[in-house]
Amino acid sequence: MKYRSQNIAYWYFTIALLLFALQVVVGLWLAFSYSFTVPQWIVDKFSFATARAMHTNLLVLWMLLGFMGGTYYIVPEETKSEIYSSKLAWIQLVALVATGVAALVGFVFGWTQGRPLLEIPRPLDIVVVVGALIFLFNVGMTMYKAKRWTAIQGTLLGGLVFLALLYLFGIPFYKNEVIDWYYWWWVIHLWVEGAWELVTAAIFAFVLMKLTGVDRQVVEKWLYVEIGLFLFTGIVGTGHHYYWIGAPKYWLWFGGIFSALEPLPILLMLIDTMQHVKQRRTEIKNPLTWTIAIGCAVMHMIGAGVWGFMHTLPQINYYTHGSQVTVSHGHLAFFGAYALLNIMVFYYAMPKIKGIEVYDPSRGKVAFWTMSTAMMLMGLSFGIAGVVQSYIERVLGMGYMAAQSYMRLWLGVTFFLGIFFFVGVLIMVTDLLTLRPARRRA
Ligand code: HEM
Ligand code: HEM
Ligand SMILES: [Fe+2]
Repeated sequence: MKYRSQNIAYWYFTIALLLFALQVVVGLWLAFSYSFTVPQWIVDKFSFATARAMHTNLLVLWMLLGFMGGTYYIVPEETKSEIYSSKLAWIQLVALVATGVAALVGFVFGWTQGRPLLEIPRPLDIVVVVGALIFLFNVGMTMYKAKRWTAIQGTLLGGLVFLALLYLFGIPFYKNEVIDWYYWWWVIHLWVEGAWELVTAAIFAFVLMKLTGVDRQVVEKWLYVEIGLFLFTGIVGTGHHYYWIGAPKYWLWFGGIFSALEPLPILLMLIDTMQHVKQRRTEIKNPLTWTIAIGCAVMHMIGAGVWGFMHTLPQINYYTHGSQVTVSHGHLAFFGAYALLNIMVFYYAMPKIKGIEVYDPSRGKVAFWTMSTAMMLMGLSFGIAGVVQSYIERVLGMGYMAAQSYMRLWLGVTFFLGIFFFVGVLIMVTDLLTLRPARRRA
C-alpha cells in the first residue's frame, strides 16, 4: 500500500465479506424451503419472499461495497494522490451499512416496495442516493484535484456515474405495470450488462496491469474496445426482457439480435486476459490472485456469455422465461462475473493494505476451488430443475405445483451443494481476515 487513505478499502472489504457469508446462509434457507416442507408458523413469520428479498439485496449490497472499496483502493494509485476526504468515505460507509441493516430488518416486518431486487422502501432509497452522491463527489474530486487522467480511471468513473444514474429510474412507481417493468429493467439489466461491466473492465484492467507488468497502453487499448462493445450490445440488448411484458413487438427482433451479440465483449475479455498471461513481464508474487483472475474471466464467459446466450432468443425464452433456468443463469453469471471479481480484488488488495508481501495461499486455493466447483454444479442442478419445469409447465401445460414436485429432487441437490459452497465461503472469509505473511522457505 502506497497511500494512507487506501486503508479505508479494508473496511469496505471486511463488511462486504461478512454480508456475503450472510447472503449465502439465507440462500441455503431458500433452497431448503424448496426441498423440505417448512412448518406454516415459520412461513407466517418469515416467508420465502422475505428471505429471497434478503438474499438478493444482501448480494447487491456486498457487491457494491466491494466495488466502492476497490475504487478507493485503485484511485489513489492511478491518480498518485490521497483520497479527497477519508472522512466522507467513512460517512458513506456508515450510511450505506445502516441503510442495509434497516432494510433487512424492515423486510421481516413487511416494510418493502415489493418489486424484486429493488424492494427497499422510498425513504431508504433517498439515503442510498445521498451515499452514492458522496461517493461520486469524493472519487470525482480526488481525480479532479490530481489532474492525472487515465483510461482506467475514466472508465471506472464513467461506469460508477452510469450505475448511480440508473438507480434513479427504479425509484418512482408507475401505475401502468408495463411501464413499471420497462424501467425496472433499466436498473437490473443495464446494471449487470452495462454499468457493472464497465466498472469490472476497469478494475480487471488495473489488476491485470499490476500483476503482469504488461504496458498500460496494451491493457487500455483493449479497455476501449470492450467498453464500446459492452455499450453497443448491452443497451439495446435490454430488449431481451421486453418480449412478454406488453412492450412493442419489434423488441423480439432488437432484443434477440443485440443480446445474442452480448457474449462477444465477454469473450474478448477472456482472450485478452489469456494474452496478458502469455505476455507477462514480471514474476507473479501471489499466484492465487492470478488463478482467481483467470477463474473470473472463464466463469464470466460461462455464466453470462454461454448461459445467457442459451435462453436469450425469444424462441427459447418463450419456454424458459422466469423458470429455474433463469435462476441457474443468475447464479453462474453473478458468481463468475462479480463475486469472483470482488474476491480477486480482496486477495489482491487486503494483503497489501496489511503490508504483507507474500502470503500463504493454501487456504485461499481450497476456498476458491470449493466455491467455484460447488457453484458450477449448483448452476447445473438449478438448470436441470429449470428444464424439467419448462417442459412440464410450458410444453405439457401442467400446473405450477405439478412441476414443483418433479423439481424437488434437483432443488434438494442444490441445497446439498450449497452447503459445500458455504464451507468454501467460510474458509475464504477466515483466510482473508487472518492473513499472515508466508514463512520463508529454508
Ligand atoms: C454478468 C452479467 C450478467 C448477470 C449478472 C446476469 C444476471 C441475470 C439475472 C439475475 C437475471 C434474472 C432477473 C430476474 O428475472 O429476476 C437475468 C435474466 C436474464 N439474462 Fe442475464 N445476466 C448477465 C448477463 C447476461 C447476458 C450476457 C445475456 C445474454 C447473452 C443474458 C441473458 C438473460 C436473459 C435472456 C434473461 C431473462 C430470463 C427470463 O426471461 O426469465 N444475461 N440475468
Ligand atoms: C449456498 C449458496 C446459495 C444457495 C443455496 C442459493 C439459493 C437460491 C435460491 C433457492 C433462490 C431463489 C430462486 C427462486 O426464486 O426460485 C436464489 C435466488 C438468487 N440467488 Fe442464490 N443461492 C446461493 C448463493 C448465491 C450466490 C453466491 C449468488 C451470487 C453470486 C446468488 C445470487 C442469487 C440471485 C441473483 C438470485 C435471484 C435469481 C433470479 O431472480 O432469477 N445466490 N438463490
Ligand atoms: Fe439482461
